[in-house]
Amino acid sequence: MPGKRSKRSSAATNSNSAESIGEVMSRTVRIPRTYVKPGCERCSKLYDRDVDADRSYNYSPGVDRWLCAGCIDEIESEKREAAESERLQTRRNALVLPYRLGQMTFGGYDTGRGDLSARDRSRAWARDARDSPGIMLCGSPGVGKTHLGVAILNERLDDPRPLVETRPIGAPFEDCARFVDCGDLIASLQVCIQTKAPASEIIDPLRRCSLLLLDDLGSERSTEFSANTISLLLRGRWNDALTTVITSNLAPKALNERFDSRVISRMGGMCKDNVVLVQSKDYRLG
Ligand SMILES: Nc1ncnc2c1ncn2[C@@H]1O[C@H](COP(=O)(O)OP(=O)(O)OP(=O)(O)O)[C@@H](O)[C@H]1O
Ligand SMILES: [Mg+2]
Ligand SMILES: [Zn+2]
Repeated sequence: MPGKRSKRSSAATNSNSAESIGEVMSRTVRIPRTYVKPGCERCSKLYDRDVDADRSYNYSPGVDRWLCAGCIDEIESEKREAAESERLQTRRNALVLPYRLGQMTFGGYDTGRGDLSARDRSRAWARDARDSPGIMLCGSPGVGKTHLGVAILNERLDDPRPLVETRPIGAPFEDCARFVDCGDLIASLQVCIQTKAPASEIIDPLRRCSLLLLDDLGSERSTEFSANTISLLLRGRWNDALTTVITSNLAPKALNERFDSRVISRMGGMCKDNVVLVQSKDYRLG
């Protein structure tokens, strides 16, 4: 600012008025060579020609600062860590769960009252079968199918690697986990039809996420519309090699009756070797 500059220069003139320019210069040249470069603006370390790259660092947009090589490395690694934790947080935020499902983890699964073998198979699948296209958890109401399904999603989300190993080639997909209850899905789509709202906003995220928990398959009212919707969703995910976790109360025979053979075939392909029958008492009833 012009005002400030003139104030400072007049102060300098006053204090140095007795000194000649030559005297001032001689003081300047006595400054040791190491001080010729400014110290690191972050840690104050002096410039070391052998270690520090002589470059300015774009500290924040539009602000170039001179930093030592060590500080540049530290800042770069802090930035990478921040970007990684943001990626994991964004991925976690995509999983929107109903309130009661929020705390369902393998750690919270009570093996004393639950099915130890089902817990172990589900956990092994979540941890190791990262290239498997699906798993199905079947059993009566209240035995913990949804609990195990959500625990699978949480287990994968705790792992920083992509949620699934197989990457669909060319198909647009999102590396995130989503949850949908089949009954809710069909009801929401019917509202869309009635209100002429775009159904794609509901179905596309489910169709494109890398890991989907399709909960309570068969709880939806059995209509041509519901069968077609579930069929399209499952066929699309199968075709794009996306991974699906399915829970259902229905026995295989009832599933066969409800869905056409092409869907049953793909569902079978998805969950091949990974159909887990969860057997225990209804946990809700205590
Ligand atoms: N072994 C277990 N340990 C701890 N909590 C459990 C266990 N099994 C079930 N639960 C709890 O009991 C409740 C019912 O379980 P869940 O919703 O998983 O049952 P479900 O098999 O999906 O039933 P439905 O077929 O009616 O959907 C949930 O709150 C769940 O967290
Ligand atoms: Mg359930
Ligand atoms: Zn530094």
